[in-house]
Amino acid sequence: MKDKTSLRKEIAGLVAEYYQSAFQGPLQFQPGKNPVHYAGRVFDEKELINAVDASLDFWLTEGRFSQDFSEKIADFLGVDNVILTNSGSSANLLAFTALTSEKLGDKRLKPGDEVITVAAGFPSTISPIIQNNLIPVFVDVDIPTYNISVEALEKAITPKTRCIFIAHTLGNPFNLDEVTRLAEKHNLWLIEDNCDAFGSKYQGRYTGTFGHLATISFYPAHHITTGEGGAIVTNDEALANIVRSFRDWGRDCYCSSGENNTCGKRFSQKFSDLPVGYDHKYVYSEIGYNLKMTDIQAAIGSAQMDKLPSFCESRKQNFKTLTAMFAPYSRFFILPEATEHADPAWFSFIVTVKESSPFSREELVNQFTANLIETRCLFAGNIIKQPAYRHVTYRVSGSLANTDYIMNNTFFLGTYPGLTPAMFGHIDTVLKEFILKFE
Ligand SMILES: Cc1ncc(COP(=O)(O)O)c(C=O)c1O
Repeated sequence: MKDKTSLRKEIAGLVAEYYQSAFQGPLQFQPGKNPVHYAGRVFDEKELINAVDASLDFWLTEGRFSQDFSEKIADFLGVDNVILTNSGSSANLLAFTALTSEKLGDKRLKPGDEVITVAAGFPSTISPIIQNNLIPVFVDVDIPTYNISVEALEKAITPKTRCIFIAHTLGNPFNLDEVTRLAEKHNLWLIEDNCDAFGSKYQGRYTGTFGHLATISFYPAHHITTGEGGAIVTNDEALANIVRSFRDWGRDCYCSSGENNTCGKRFSQKFSDLPVGYDHKYVYSEIGYNLKMTDIQAAIGSAQMDKLPSFCESRKQNFKTLTAMFAPYSRFFILPEATEHADPAWFSFIVTVKESSPFSREELVNQFTANLIETRCLFAGNIIKQPAYRHVTYRVSGSLANTDYIMNNTFFLGTYPGLTPAMFGHIDTVLKEFILKFE
């Protein structure tokens, strides 16, 4: 019988061969016949080999690949703690819920406290606020950065405000100078939803490293993927331990899976009304969940991390290509702009149809769709208009005029690294043909 090491080698070789045969076919892009996706996974044989390698370990839960993946993220961002989760939404839920922990004493978030966020965003940035019985306070965004208006943010702050929880919209960093200044001045927690911005920079520093906590998503549309997956990053050790506890059933014990008695006091402590020496592995100090990532996902993520810098470059390049394509028609469109001091690894190319334009967003989007070019809205539009929000308690501070305008007139195209020159050529042709009708 062959030994397991040589079998693994053989399997890896076959997987590489399989990749060539299954995914490297001579597919020629045919405009109008093949879709131009707005996003998608980009990978090679390394992701497949890692996934199979992790499957052969059959460890399944957090293991060596999780360690490796976490370390790569920590090195890339320059952060101390990375906690892997099963999605970006779970990361948001955990980051926010961690701030409600009694371990934080008076600093903890309590039901009824207010949290400033934007209505033009993704639902699961806001859901954790509601799920924890706090009050979201919605403020408007600026166009063409699509990020929180810092003037509106400042006006929304009251003695009840305890936290700011916002995303770097579509990869474009929000004004971190002002937002961190206001958070410090008013003693507020800051969570950066970095799900769409992994690799973006502000003042030369990666987003996700400014707030008390930040989250990342590894859903296939994002900068790197593990299929489903996410992470929380923080430089605060105490917060990291709380997040880990909420992620792992609420347990007090912080041993990694497969480990025992790391604290050396497994059977000698006293907690609340439990008997002395009750097994620390089964002591629960939070009302928790299980939102962990599997090692197979982490194995894919580890291979993706090696590609992140080139993926970010490609996103920036694709953004430039689309800018050049739309720039001649700036009388019809508001084109996206990076926030001052920002270097975005763009999640997408966001466009708003001007009020004065002779056509509507729907007409253009329909034209793209008919030609198999995918577009998307800025997520929920104005979230308070969504059916789920009919009975939610929230506060609106100031006007949401831009948010409403975005809901009605804005869409985005993809910038992901899987887009080819032929696909961009197709987008250009369809756009030109459409515009010709109005010139
Ligand atoms: C800004 C933002 N936050 C959070 C999420 C949620 O991430 P996931 O799909 O991994 O749950 C997304 C979605 O993709 C997002 O765009």
